[in-house]
Amino acid sequence: KLAKLRGLESGKLQLAVVTTAKYFIPHLIGDFYKQHPQLDIRFRVGNRQQIIDYTSEDADDFYVFSHPPKNPDLALVEFLPNRLLAIAPEKHPLADRKNISLKEFASCPFLRREEGSGTRHAIERFLAKRGVDLNVRMTIESNEAIKHAVMSGLGVSILSEHTLAFGGHSGLSILDVEALPITTHWYLARRQSRPLSPAAMEFLEYARNLETVPEETGGIQDI
Ligand code: PGA
Repeated sequence: KLAKLRGLESGKLQLAVVTTAKYFIPHLIGDFYKQHPQLDIRFRVGNRQQIIDYTSEDADDFYVFSHPPKNPDLALVEFLPNRLLAIAPEKHPLADRKNISLKEFASCPFLRREEGSGTRHAIERFLAKRGVDLNVRMTIESNEAIKHAVMSGLGVSILSEHTLAFGGHSGLSILDVEALPITTHWYLARRQSRPLSPAAMEFLEYARNLETVPEETGGIQDI
């Protein structure tokens, strides 16, 4: 059998992915696994800094980042878009406004992710370029907890569209803020110094052929 020839019959595949990728990576793995049910597939989830730390362990075949670190050993494949959207509670005064200025949005109490988060890193870089400061009310270490804190009226935030699609968005408004969404991409990264196993080679090929996020993983049209 071809799979046997390729050494795929009892292979292992291990991935480490950032928190916002955990909503769609399981769907991709699901499709891949159907083609290779004999593989032992594992994945772990962390914030950007944790995934960067894992790159020095040589335990994972692939890492998924939207802001990969500058490390010459990491080879990157850009594979899916990731948009970060401004959100507010449903009945927020800005909810029905068009083209809200970035300054006005940033003056609202903001719920931000912890240090080490790629989402936070992207937001801070985006605002620093435009000379705008956030009015931080609270730091929360989870996308889901931030989403629920926004629903409960604690403040506004900026989160990946995938976080919003997962579990619905009732109680939230997506705001129309100048220059948003922040558009980033996910990258599949691997250490070039780690030999590609047959399973890793197959997964890389599979990821390269992906053009869009599978529908069931949700895009903005679903929220
Ligand atoms: P994080 O994930 O905010 O949990 O680090 C997203 C990213 O790195 O872009």
